[in-house]
Amino acid sequence: MSEILAHAEHGVLTLTFNRIEKKNALTSPMYARLADHLMGAADDAQTRVLVIQGQENLFTAGNDVSEFLQRPPASLEAPVFRFLRAIADFPKPVIAAVCGPAVGIGTTLLLHCDLVYAGDNALFSLPFVNLGLCPEAASSLLLPLRVGHAAAAEKLLFGEPFAADEAHEMGLVNRVLPPAEVNAYAQQQAGKLAAKPMASLSVTKALLRKPLREAVHAVIVEEAMHFERMLKGPAAKEAFGAFLAKRKPDFSGL
Ligand code: COA
Repeated sequence: MSEILAHAEHGVLTLTFNRIEKKNALTSPMYARLADHLMGAADDAQTRVLVIQGQENLFTAGNDVSEFLQRPPASLEAPVFRFLRAIADFPKPVIAAVCGPAVGIGTTLLLHCDLVYAGDNALFSLPFVNLGLCPEAASSLLLPLRVGHAAAAEKLLFGEPFAADEAHEMGLVNRVLPPAEVNAYAQQQAGKLAAKPMASLSVTKALLRKPLREAVHAVIVEEAMHFERMLKGPAAKEAFGAFLAKRKPDFSGL
């Protein structure tokens, strides 16, 4: 079965992460599929709203760690960047339904969504520093704008997971619900939006996003330069090696 499920109904396209045995860790083929769906849906008059979701106890463990080690993104044409550009520019409302872990890009992609509904079991994290890396997906720009510098610095420098209530207080999440209700609530809200006039939705979203659009793309590129270099560095190798060997990383001397 596909690792990205797509279901279209009543103007709502729902994309579901479906690699449960690896905690929905995202691989290049998964990013490529997400990007293809987003680009197709952007031009498809039948799609009025997009929902991105996982399961009742799992959003995504972020980028696949083995792939980071074995096949790091080689250029800005890599599927992960195609996906980031596609979601940053997606012209219709995007709703994320988040339960359980939302690691790395699982949290940063939310900054490109218009509405985020979370289960009270959602656990967000931005572990880049702890992995010897740096922020990605324009999160170094979008997170402080969304939650303020103090909270953004705390989350990005310490990289410690934070729960749904805190994410809600910070303004990252619109609403917290019991996990069993999250995906259904996202569908209900998507259905409400899909019944509204499309041009008004698109223009409203474009106006909301316009002030930061160019900066977002520039920052995605700037972060990617650092990220790609750091991925090959000793701290990232130690962090990922430790994760796969199920041991604590040792950054002494790094
Ligand atoms: N990439 C590759 N495999 C991953 C993964 C990832 N990002 N996250 C989890 N997995 C794999 C584990 O290696 C394990 O595989 P195995 O069964 O073959 O040993 C399986 O998924 C289950 O993961 P596990 O860690 O045992 O589950 P958990 O419920 O104890 O913890 C998480 C879940 C998401 C908290 C934890 O897996 C985690 O922190 N993942 C890494 C996140 C990360 O560093 N992502 C990169 C962000 S840039």
